[in-house]
Amino acid sequence: MLVIEGRAYLEGQLESVALGIEDGTIVAIKKTLRGDETYRFGDAILLPGGIDVHVHFREPGKTHKEDFASGTESAAVGGVTTVVDMPNTRPPVTKGDVLREKLRVVSRHANVDFGLYGAPASAADVKSLADAIAYKVYLAETTDAPLIRDDAALADLLAGVASTKTYMSVHAEDPSRFQSLPAKKLEDYHRARPPEAERSAIETVGRLRGEARVHIAHVTTAEAVKARPAGATCEVTPHHLLLSTASPIGARGKVNPPLRPIAERENLWREVVAGSVDMFASDHAPHTLDEKSVPFDEAPAGVPGVATTFPVLFRYVRRDVLPLPQFVAMFSENPAKLLRVNKGTLAVGRDADLIVVDPRRIEKMTARRCRYKCGWTPFEGAESTFPFATFVRGQLVSQEGELVTESAGRLITPSEL
Ligand code: NCD
Ligand code: ZN
Ligand code: ZN
Repeated sequence: MLVIEGRAYLEGQLESVALGIEDGTIVAIKKTLRGDETYRFGDAILLPGGIDVHVHFREPGKTHKEDFASGTESAAVGGVTTVVDMPNTRPPVTKGDVLREKLRVVSRHANVDFGLYGAPASAADVKSLADAIAYKVYLAETTDAPLIRDDAALADLLAGVASTKTYMSVHAEDPSRFQSLPAKKLEDYHRARPPEAERSAIETVGRLRGEARVHIAHVTTAEAVKARPAGATCEVTPHHLLLSTASPIGARGKVNPPLRPIAERENLWREVVAGSVDMFASDHAPHTLDEKSVPFDEAPAGVPGVATTFPVLFRYVRRDVLPLPQFVAMFSENPAKLLRVNKGTLAVGRDADLIVVDPRRIEKMTARRCRYKCGWTPFEGAESTFPFATFVRGQLVSQEGELVTESAGRLITPSEL
């Protein structure tokens, strides 16, 4: 048995315990345990590893921006032990054979556990994509994404998803509400793809969803949170919480849906604090600095983020803006419930995915620290706390910012929880 000692987050509280782990599963939680191998972390905090249901690792097709090995390394360093990769890779994951080929290419290089989204164009494609952990639909143009253009096609897709156990993640922007304005700066981009477009798309999904499980990706406004259909979940990104149209980052901050003005961002924070937003997700969408260093309207949309969710948001726990239970719910527990995987909680019977944190360690964010292939982060210089060790099913995957075990990641499959 492997033993990990520390102050673990158990049922809402921190308790000094020993976690006993066998075959990657937590098998005992006691005051003390004797094991074959013991990690003693003293008063450092043990939290469930993060689950990021929205990343773009660009493999296959755009591996100069990111690939599965580099993306999952950044995930581990940032305390994310499970990722779900989006289907806008090349070719887009619209059919089962494309998904199986993507799985073949990426599986051996995963440093954390992972699932893949499918992007069906019809209910028939939903069936062919049975190996996908979940589905994605893009209702507006965004980087390399296959588009669904009309209500009939969306209704068909949702009906297909309703006959599965999994969910449909929605990129919810209604292009009929876009303004054709020249976009030279973040403020223009916000006006060109306004909050009404998000609200309108979410309402359409609410109208058409039938019995499908629906998850709204990257909400940017309080109105979007409030517009979501009853029972639907939603995610918020750190960039929409921490950056705004006033951030001095130009085209680097160009992202879909856009960064919003400070007042909108504050309203979004209120929804988070009130507990109305189910989870964090990074929408890690890396583009190289060269690709971003062009006139604003030509720059690709997307910002990297898989390594920074924990580091930049943990300060809000330290400052009591987000109580630890709420943070853990949004970082780990709720995404695990959405995916129906046996993860997200430190409890007997669960996968031993966990991170080790010393809250006294505070440093300035850098891209190098994130080990990003794209070489930049929109949070450069931000006050950060990185976990100093990350375990995936009991394997020490990263320590002090370095990857120590390669290819420990496995494909996730839903459990009957
Ligand atoms: C994403 C990308 O680059 O893949 N870009 C973005 O601006 N968020 C696509 C997406 O999630 O919309
Ligand atoms: Zn999107
Ligand atoms: Zn995305």
